[in-house]
Amino acid sequence: MQVSLRHIHKRFGAVHANNDINLTFEGGRIVGILGENGAGKSTLMKILSGFQPVDSGEIWIDNRPVAYTGPQAAIRNGIGMLQQDPLDVPAFTVLENFIYGNGDGFFLPRKLAARQLQEISKRFGFELEADMPIAQLSIGQRQQMEIVRLLTLGVKMLILDEPTTGISAEQKQILFDALRHLTKEDGLSVLLVSHKLEDVIALCNEVAVLRAGRLVGTRQMPATNAQLVSMMFGQELAPHTRKQVDLSAARDALVLEHLYLHGHRVNVDDVNLRIKAGEIIGLAGLDGSGQEMVLRACVGLQKSARGRIHLNGEDITGQSYRSFLSKGVAFGAAGRLEEGLVGGLTLTEHIALANESGSFINWNAARQHCESQIKLYDVRGRPESMIETLSGGNQQRVLMALMPHSPVLMALEQPTRGLDVDSARWIWQQLLERRERGAAIIFSSPDLDELVAYSDRILVFYAGRIFEIPDANRTTIDEIGRLIGGHFEVQPA
Ligand SMILES: Nc1ncnc2c1ncn2[C@@H]1O[C@H](COP(=O)(O)OP(=O)(O)OP(=O)(O)O)[C@@H](O)[C@H]1O
Ligand SMILES: [Mg+2]
Repeated sequence: MQVSLRHIHKRFGAVHANNDINLTFEGGRIVGILGENGAGKSTLMKILSGFQPVDSGEIWIDNRPVAYTGPQAAIRNGIGMLQQDPLDVPAFTVLENFIYGNGDGFFLPRKLAARQLQEISKRFGFELEADMPIAQLSIGQRQQMEIVRLLTLGVKMLILDEPTTGISAEQKQILFDALRHLTKEDGLSVLLVSHKLEDVIALCNEVAVLRAGRLVGTRQMPATNAQLVSMMFGQELAPHTRKQVDLSAARDALVLEHLYLHGHRVNVDDVNLRIKAGEIIGLAGLDGSGQEMVLRACVGLQKSARGRIHLNGEDITGQSYRSFLSKGVAFGAAGRLEEGLVGGLTLTEHIALANESGSFINWNAARQHCESQIKLYDVRGRPESMIETLSGGNQQRVLMALMPHSPVLMALEQPTRGLDVDSARWIWQQLLERRERGAAIIFSSPDLDELVAYSDRILVFYAGRIFEIPDANRTTIDEIGRLIGGHFEVQPA
């Protein structure tokens, strides 16, 4: 199937999110859609898959113009998009979702559905069983379920918007293999939006690059990381150089003693950690290995059954999250819109709430402060923009703007999740400036390069166990990768 976009335009108020985009996609190929945060990638993909109406322009399929409204109609035309948070019905099992989840009142007979589900799962090595309750699936399994659903609906073009955030390394491998088979053997066309250039290099046959709403160009792969970066930003980025800091005289910012953290999947016992002012500690591990609980214990969100917590020498064991915040602790959650930011509120409202001291809010001051924060943090948005209308990267910038100026400790879950290389660099610059002012930083990341680049110390979590890498300054991503998989034994002391 050949799909062409012709003169696609889409505006949101003053923002020209897609400005005259012309692109043609052939079957049998994987095309990477690249671009800085806010470039217009998600908007274009939503237009193609019927999740958003186009202002003007046309979509042609096999040399015929098509017009559709809504995702179901796009699917009938052979185009399906994997939503980052699939809209499923949690009370269902995998099989029920598969039968009823197709909309349009079109039901598959139960037996046929079960057989198709099994066949496709088996072919791609998906970890799906018909009677699994959806609520218990991991993000990776939900994604697999959604792919199976779209395939049985006969989709010929599969669109994935940042599909590798939140899934394990093994699930990523399974996903990539499936995409390769679907293009090579079944002639499907795959569009992959991603900021992970390693993934793009490993998977894509060609790339299309957007910048500020316009198409800057396309190119056939292979290409190097540096070539892709310069297409995206119009210049190459100098490599980040690590600064060694002498922490020998630094005081303790946070001390955890003998904590016992009880979680859904694992427990972490006897956590002992000293974080000095100006120190950066990176936490590595597969999702659910215990690192999230330790981060949250640092900010008072995860309670410990035993042990003590000291902040700047003061015993604050058992105190509330609010109380931790008031003493200079800051928390950045990975789920931007679930925890850090509130959908339906404007930027000004976020700033006002973050700086709220009593029950009275001075809206004029809040708006002015908001305007200066927008400038300072280079947020593409306006004070009156609802937070959910910002691109992912710009939401991350807002989170950073809400952080205190000189915190004692910042605990950050995946601080650069979903950010383009340049924005990620920028966020770290902000963090390093706070470190210069004496802030201690503890962060988790699935990105091993990021852990190596910024951590003074690295702790690896595996099934609730914690292993500290002896010399974080000299470690490699291979070493951390092995440890994440639980291979502690091969590690020389
Ligand atoms: N519903 C909306 N209302 C208002 N503005 C929007 C809406 N959706 C997107 N925008 C704006 O359109 C521009 C493009 O956003 P889009 O989400 O397409 O970017 P993106 O390339 O996917 O970025 P990211 O890599 O950060 O996800 C941004 O400036 C964004 O704020
Ligand atoms: Mg996006």
